[in-house]
Amino acid sequence: MKIAIIGAGNLGLSIANGILNSNGATTMYLTKRDTKSIIDFEKHNKVTVTNDNRLAIQNSDILIFAVQPVHFAAILEDVKDLLTENHVIISTITGFGIDKIEAVIGKDNYIVRSMPNTAISVGKSMTCICSNEKGKKRIDLTKAIFNRMGHCMEIPENQMQAATVICASGIAFWMRLIRATTQGAIQLGFDAQEAQELAMHTCNGAANLLIESGNHPEQEIDRVTTPMGCTITGLNEMEHQGLSSSLIRGIIASYDKITEFKTK
Ligand SMILES: NC(=O)c1ccc[n+]([C@@H]2O[C@H](COP(=O)([O-])OP(=O)(O)OC[C@H]3O[C@@H](n4cnc5c(N)ncnc54)[C@H](OP(=O)(O)O)[C@@H]3O)[C@@H](O)[C@H]2O)c1
Repeated sequence: MKIAIIGAGNLGLSIANGILNSNGATTMYLTKRDTKSIIDFEKHNKVTVTNDNRLAIQNSDILIFAVQPVHFAAILEDVKDLLTENHVIISTITGFGIDKIEAVIGKDNYIVRSMPNTAISVGKSMTCICSNEKGKKRIDLTKAIFNRMGHCMEIPENQMQAATVICASGIAFWMRLIRATTQGAIQLGFDAQEAQELAMHTCNGAANLLIESGNHPEQEIDRVTTPMGCTITGLNEMEHQGLSSSLIRGIIASYDKITEFKTK
């Protein structure tokens, strides 16, 4: 695959690393206006670093746009005459709908919109994607790209904001749960570093149990709750204090906020 990443900043470079580490590109162009900070990427013999978006697009098939929203329309305008049947346009830009992309370049290109999260930098992003009508033919290809950097799911575009709450804000929600568990562990006598190690690896194990078994969380809970035992006692106390309810309410509050941004 000949890949261009237009806007090699935080997210663009994480994607570049994910693709390079999994040997997913035959050539890769990385662009930004000031290329000094990324010139070292040229140590990879497949990578060309440039500030020339047009050059990158002319030499690539998969175009991943990772610029800030304010820059996106102008960049598209500047390169739209170069876009061909071969190009797959993948936008990572938050809140920038497919209709806005089509308003600049038309409906005749394969357009995919994606929402990765920050775990993409460690190859573990939950990435949601949707496409325009034409782009449906390139969904499998896009999934294959993002599955190299975690897990990818196609969703309807009208669920992109909900996905942003669950997957992008979700990173912060899970961090708080891990931090709270860490604080509990410190109170039980572990030092801070040990406590965090216990909390994060237990969290990782819990997620992997579900991923690999396909089980419902409650099935895994049943396996560790002895009648009258310590786990069910702790769990019930957490629920009396509103654990599930507060998480659900927080998710809904985030969604209300993101919807409010959209309508303003
Ligand atoms: N970070 C995340 O976790 C995340 C998750 C999901 C979606 N997103 C979306 O991804 C996009 C990028 O986020 P980010 O955090 O990676 O931002 P960022 O670090 O600011 O990266 C944007 C890059 O675009 C470059 N750029 C600006 N104008 C350009 C131009 N004309 N041509 C080529 N490159 C240009 C900038 O470099 P120069 O100034 O040197 O040109 C910068 O390196 C945003 O739209 C954001 O909504 C981010």
